[in-house]
Amino acid sequence: MVLIRAEGLVKTYRAGEVEVPAVKGVDFAIDSKSFVAFVGPSGSGKTTLLNMIGCLDRSTAGKLTVMDTDVGKLDRRAAADFRGRHIGFVFQDFNLIPVLTVYENIEYPLIMVQDWPESKRREQIARLLEAVGMSGQEKKRPDQISGGQKQRVAVARALATNAQLVLADEPTANLDHDTAYRIIELMKKMRDELGTTFIFSTHDPKIMSEAEVIFQLEDGRIHRQPLPQPQPKVALHA
Ligand SMILES: Nc1ncnc2c1ncn2[C@@H]1O[C@H](COP(=O)(O)OP(=O)(O)OP(=O)(O)O)[C@@H](O)[C@H]1O
Ligand SMILES: [Mg+2]
Repeated sequence: MVLIRAEGLVKTYRAGEVEVPAVKGVDFAIDSKSFVAFVGPSGSGKTTLLNMIGCLDRSTAGKLTVMDTDVGKLDRRAAADFRGRHIGFVFQDFNLIPVLTVYENIEYPLIMVQDWPESKRREQIARLLEAVGMSGQEKKRPDQISGGQKQRVAVARALATNAQLVLADEPTANLDHDTAYRIIELMKKMRDELGTTFIFSTHDPKIMSEAEVIFQLEDGRIHRQPLPQPQPKVALHA
């Protein structure tokens, strides 16, 4: 089943008189439950594309359908509502709330968006903490855990509301290679267990090769799409 479809999608930023073409007419389809990477050099349009899919920004032209919704037609409020209901985000710099505990960080979207009763929240958070390997750490604050652990919490937070889609813009950029690799493996495990579609962007070829579908961006265009399964898994601990 197709979860996301882009047809002639264009994004041009306007900075005063200057127009910056960031995405120059791309077409792609992403199936539900897939594990996808957007790769490409700096400035190639990865963040711009992810922001449009995540309803954080709107296209200039073309059509973008996410879960049967024409997201280009949503106004600000409807976009925020759609995002809260259907999409989870993982960020490069983790974006955990420093004054909240691990538990409270995962709980936050449940209170803000879904307003679940406390017992249901507790159950969901315990399940997610276990799934991301952070059980027993729930009382710690972000400054008491490592970068890799912070990103595990961020993955749990992204999944808290049972989002069908998680977008991760360079989720491994601030992690050492082994930790980065484990975070990607964790996301893949969550995809396997929950059927959540994950789209991440990266510069790292080894991380990229963990994806099942790779969209190669270059200067606002998709270069080749989708590539077949790339090289065999790279042995990291040879
Ligand atoms: N808010 C903005 N205003 C004007 N131009 C922008 C804006 N955001 C991005 N751009 C431009 O759009 C193009 C695509 O940028 P984008 O951030 O999507 O690239 P990227 O592939 O995510 O790069 P990186 O790997 O450095 O994160 C670049 O030319 C960039 O300078
Ligand atoms: Mg970017």
